[in-house]
Amino acid sequence: MKTNKTCFITGASKSLGAFLCKRFWDEGYNLYMIARSGSGLQRVSSSLPERDGQSIVRIACDLGDPVQVLELIVKVKETLPSLDVLINNAAIQGPIGPLTQNDFSMWQQAIQVDLLAPVALCRGFVPWMSERGGSIINLSGGGATAPRANFSAYATAKAGLVRFSETLAEETKSLGIRVNCIAPGAMKTAMLGEVLEKGADVAGEREFAIATKIFTEGGASMNRVADLALFLASDESKGITGKLISAIWDDWEHWPEHLDELSKNDIYTLRRIVGRDRGFEWGDK
Ligand SMILES: NC(=O)c1ccc[n+]([C@@H]2O[C@H](COP(=O)([O-])OP(=O)(O)OC[C@H]3O[C@@H](n4cnc5c(N)ncnc54)[C@H](OP(=O)(O)O)[C@@H]3O)[C@@H](O)[C@H]2O)c1
Repeated sequence: MKTNKTCFITGASKSLGAFLCKRFWDEGYNLYMIARSGSGLQRVSSSLPERDGQSIVRIACDLGDPVQVLELIVKVKETLPSLDVLINNAAIQGPIGPLTQNDFSMWQQAIQVDLLAPVALCRGFVPWMSERGGSIINLSGGGATAPRANFSAYATAKAGLVRFSETLAEETKSLGIRVNCIAPGAMKTAMLGEVLEKGADVAGEREFAIATKIFTEGGASMNRVADLALFLASDESKGITGKLISAIWDDWEHWPEHLDELSKNDIYTLRRIVGRDRGFEWGDK
């Protein structure tokens, strides 16, 4: 099932990124796979069945290095006529523990990988995607919609990424480019393993308990995340932009029936909660 469409996926060397590669490949997309580990990318791509007319490009790149990110954009534009789908999936947890005990260079690195690199990729690719429209999908994460103690860098980066996505969605609506975020739910991957490694004393009791539960009982379905990503990449999701969508909790399959309400409303976005939203009469003038 060849689509003649190309999907660019960061963090493609393992976990969710590798799974998304498989599902987009099976759907007929050409792939641009990005991660630091060249051997990881090779392992994932060689697990995909060869198909006539479909191609894979692997590029080892450290998104933590702003210079490498800019070089990546130039390299991709030299070899690819246009891009249809950009998935900013790569992320790091950053330092775990109270801010005052965090290594600040690790904190800054999390902002670079989780926020600034996706922003740079959007900035580099949007003018070029606009030739025939397209879809940008950014992976949100814990802390984007509520405080997450002991994960300040990650939470700050992900909240920033969601607000950035809403803003870019406004700017690119007229270009036919959709920009949405996916909240995948907690998945059993290396990222969650880091929480277990740090333990309850550093990560906090609640975070540790959640990570332990996910590791013993299994986490959110990557299939469901991939279903949503494919939906957002396809024409089925035309008119849906600027939203933060939960792969597991939201009934996004039926959203095309509600495009008017979705576009004229701030539902599924980040907003300030005021007193009246919580039933208090004293907060607002
Ligand atoms: N796991 C969860 O419970 C969970 C929950 C909510 C949201 N999310 C989000 O879902 C996405 C995928 O998470 P995951 O659990 O699959 O993460 P993961 O297992 O830690 O994998 C992260 C991927 O990002 C790549 N990466 C990390 N640093 C990089 C860098 N500096 N440059 C280039 N690539 C880099 C890694 O490859 P290399 O090491 O080869 O570079 C790897 O392919 C992330 O955006 C995450 O925030 C995850």
